[in-house]
Amino acid sequence: MDLHEIMEMDSKYYMNTFGQRTPVCFEYGKGIDLYSSDGRKYCDLLGGIAVNALGHAHPALVEAINSQAQKLIHCSSLYYIESQAELAKMLVEVSCADRVFFANSGAEANEGAIKLARIYFKKKGMPDKYGIITLKDSFHGRTLATVAATGQEKYQKPYAPLMPGFKHVQINDLGALKAAIGDETCAVMMELIQGESGVHPLDAEYVQAVRKLCDEKGLLLIIDEIQTGMGRTGKLFAYEHYGIEPDIFTLAKALAGGVPIGALCAKDSVAQAFEPGDHGSTFGGNPLACSAGLAVLKTMLDEDLPANAEKMGRNFMDELKKLSGKHGIISEIRGIGLMIGIQLAQDKAAAVKTKLFENGWLVGSVGASVIRLLPPLIITKEDIDAFAKALDEVLMSL
Ligand SMILES: Cc1ncc(COP(=O)(O)O)c(C=O)c1O
Repeated sequence: MDLHEIMEMDSKYYMNTFGQRTPVCFEYGKGIDLYSSDGRKYCDLLGGIAVNALGHAHPALVEAINSQAQKLIHCSSLYYIESQAELAKMLVEVSCADRVFFANSGAEANEGAIKLARIYFKKKGMPDKYGIITLKDSFHGRTLATVAATGQEKYQKPYAPLMPGFKHVQINDLGALKAAIGDETCAVMMELIQGESGVHPLDAEYVQAVRKLCDEKGLLLIIDEIQTGMGRTGKLFAYEHYGIEPDIFTLAKALAGGVPIGALCAKDSVAQAFEPGDHGSTFGGNPLACSAGLAVLKTMLDEDLPANAEKMGRNFMDELKKLSGKHGIISEIRGIGLMIGIQLAQDKAAAVKTKLFENGWLVGSVGASVIRLLPPLIITKEDIDAFAKALDEVLMSL
């Protein structure tokens, strides 16, 4: 089928939640590159929105999925699952969590976190503590509870009335957070680097003060590591940069390299609140997803990909700073490791993205003026140099 036929079929039969998509259909990928049905090669600097951390068709991931699919894809969590137990153990060993529960997506992992925070206080005999404070411009998912948690009106408005119990405060404003705490508050939930709003890292002093405040007030701190986790920022988890430990954190995106999975990770004292029957999932923690997750995590540790993310992140910053000195249109470069936002002084993100696409580069954009880069963690200095040259030419042509 050619691209035109696919586009026609899509416009007739698929629900139009994505609007006009980039006009390309990929057939296969290898490493950092994707190849389209019309035979063109694209360098993927968006990595399926922070999912393809090992790049495309990484042999370790392909082998894990292949061999698991031939044995057992699904059996339900009514039975013991070796790769589920193993992946949970590995995540506990590399993080501050003591226990893990697997879901199928980021939003679902966050739903689990919200439920866990509420039930934790219910079981402590405090049923009126249900409120969660999140940050303005945050993004926590598309289910009804996570839409209510998300601090962006555009995602909420069409679905009013929203699920009650959420308040949103300005980022890096401790006073606002203190003022929002009420008798009903049970937790604070935040991304440490807000991704969907254009890559905005929180201040370290603020995050440390929030941790202290949560301890003083007896509130749980939930960190959404769905985009920042799994090595992207140069450390396995972004909370490591901030010198704090959350009570609960959530993972998804890169955890199984593209096989749908989410993880709810918590300290034992909190995790104990979930007792048999309190939470569940048909697909969550299935053998296929967990085998994929194990392959991703083992490869990440064996190849020290967080260290590569840190090093390549610095290379990116150096190259982008050179470009910002040359092109006035770049007003700010934000980010940590391989989570990068290029702020443009004019509303030209779509034009830059389109021109890069025409030249074989895939990047993301946020709003009208931010270019977002979330490349696979296997990226090399040569890829970055080639991209800097391409971006230089595009900016020159504008
Ligand atoms: C920080 C954060 N939380 C939650 C989500 C929702 O994840 P999913 O799309 O897998 O439900 C996303 C997705 O972009 C995200 O970036």
